[in-house]
Amino acid sequence: MTQPSATRYSRITGTGSYLPPKRLTNEALAAELAAKGVETSDEWIVARTGIRARHFAEADVPCSDLALPAAQRALEAAGVAASQIDLIIVATSTPDMVFPSTATILQRKLGIAGCPAFDVQAVCSGFVYALTVADSMIRTGAASKALVVGAEIFSRLLDFNDRTTCVLFGDGAGAVVLEASDTPGILASELHADGRHVDILCTPGSVSGGKITGDPLLKMDGPAVFKLAVGVLEDVARSVLAKAGRTDADIDWLIPHQANIRIMQGTARKLKLPLDKLIATVDEHGNTSAASIPLALDVAVRAGTVKRGDTVMLEGVGGGFTWGAVLFDY
Ligand code: UT7
Repeated sequence: MTQPSATRYSRITGTGSYLPPKRLTNEALAAELAAKGVETSDEWIVARTGIRARHFAEADVPCSDLALPAAQRALEAAGVAASQIDLIIVATSTPDMVFPSTATILQRKLGIAGCPAFDVQAVCSGFVYALTVADSMIRTGAASKALVVGAEIFSRLLDFNDRTTCVLFGDGAGAVVLEASDTPGILASELHADGRHVDILCTPGSVSGGKITGDPLLKMDGPAVFKLAVGVLEDVARSVLAKAGRTDADIDWLIPHQANIRIMQGTARKLKLPLDKLIATVDEHGNTSAASIPLALDVAVRAGTVKRGDTVMLEGVGGGFTWGAVLFDY
């Protein structure tokens, strides 16, 4: 294990992502819902959210099966072998099992053993939380090459009789390899939570005595979440910029949690960023919770949009209520 050093930073050296093959357009989803008497339309979904399609995993596919190819692609992009990884963090709210963690299952599927592996559960802020924890562990010398993954199968939590939520979410995974570096890398980050708002976005069921107790389907007060999200995203971005000694003019790319294009564009405008600096994949992915940010990052990196040296702001927000941001030089 490396000793801490005053000049030790962490840097993203590779990204990867994976979407399950089944793609469902708004029209196809609306037709499926209409068959059960639930009314929605492509027009409503696009106008209110910007979502046009989402991917759903097949019923027998666990979360770790989405995490694995995303992780392998990130390792390949970084030129790092799985055996060199000394920390695995998976951000998920849809783990394979109650326990053990999806991170340990991923570790086994990667064919490695020994390094710490654990899940972070901060719902849609999960990736920003996981990246901040990994950055802290690298800077203190507790790890040198971390695999940080956001992976979700939110389709399992959806109530397909509730049109206010079931049209919003999708499944997928994104990953980064984060390595120790003499230069940043991650410039600053900040995490927050306010548990007074637990009830506005939750899946309140649990397993007890061999049965599910409570309701195991996702509940959301969309307008309440919308209002809170818009308020906190500008504040946390400004705070992280100040910590890093940067200004909004230094941001090359804004990658917010991909839940609703209106929230994302509102945040960009408040930060005085032209909308062409906003990375948006919500149209094709829907809201993939903890996977949404690393998925969008990987799409942008592989498209050649985010390039080495660019300054990128990641922003997460979601259930808990949780939120946070990470600013980094790619
Ligand atoms: O991932 C964690 C973070 N989550 C978020 O950031 C989500 C934040 N919230 C949102 O994105 C938005 O609040 C929603 C997209 C969820 C909803 O948009 P909205 O503009 O806040 O709509 P609303 O909930 O106020 O509903 C407006 C109308 C209602 O009808 P009435 O009462 O005005 O007659 C709804 O019943 O739209 C109706 N509606 C729908 N109509 C067709 C709600 N869902 C649908 C639907 N199709 N799927």
